[in-house]
Amino acid sequence: MCEQKLHNLPKNIAIDGPAASGKSTIGTLIANKIGYMCLDTGIMYRAVAFQALKEGINVDDEEQVTKLAERIEIDILPASSRDGRQFDVIINGEDHSWDIRATAVNAVVSEVSVYPGVRQAMTLQQRKIAEKGKIVMIGRDIGTVVLPDADMKIYLDASVEVRAQRRYIEDLGRGEDVCLEDVVNSLRHRDEIDSGRAVAPLKAAEDAIMIDSDRMTVYEVVEHVMKLLEKRG
Ligand code: CDP
Ligand code: CDP
Repeated sequence: MCEQKLHNLPKNIAIDGPAASGKSTIGTLIANKIGYMCLDTGIMYRAVAFQALKEGINVDDEEQVTKLAERIEIDILPASSRDGRQFDVIINGEDHSWDIRATAVNAVVSEVSVYPGVRQAMTLQQRKIAEKGKIVMIGRDIGTVVLPDADMKIYLDASVEVRAQRRYIEDLGRGEDVCLEDVVNSLRHRDEIDSGRAVAPLKAAEDAIMIDSDRMTVYEVVEHVMKLLEKRG
């Protein structure tokens, strides 16, 4: 698709949806096509969960985890290695791009993301990053809470079976010893906590465009979004 057709681009694009629905893959591709920055906010919550485990903080201790979220330094940079990562994730000066994807982090990230103080610390940083505009921001609460005024909002969905299958293949490709049933259970567990929490639950904004990608490839979803952007012009 020709980029010159794309005038009247939205200042910011919010992409929300459940785990492994394709948000970061599709968000990164769209951002590259239109020359926007891409921020996957899930990385920030993963970084808090990872660092809590690293420092031996009990993830049930809301006060300690919140203090950690307020002092943690997270830098998300363009990928410096072609090992499949989408970004370099630097936590307090150290590269933990893959560590934040570990099973141990998956198991606790939704629990730490429930804490209102953790969310407040992350939301403040996310809004600051978005101030300059030209950003595709990905998460669970971007269209509803972080950037409620985003002028394009997408809610990317897919059934848990399809999402688990995709994540399973992804994990196998990285050489991880996983079983499909565990991946299904882990996604279900996170979806349940993410959708059920009191503050900023996972849900589609009322003005979000819904895309069900069960039967769509990455390429088809990207084309669909690019057509929506073209129509705005
Ligand atoms: O990549 P995947 O979809 O598996 O997860 P992620 O986007 O990296 O997010 C990891 C976890 O962070 C989610 O399951 C949520 O608990 C939390 N999260 C959140 O609460 N709010 C966001 N804006 C982004 C992620
Ligand atoms: O960011 P999120 O957790 O929502 O999902 P992702 O990490 O971007 O996508 C999970 C996996 O599903 C990746 O390997 C994608 O390439 C794959 N995927 C797919 O095969 N078809 C789609 N329509 C969307 C994602």
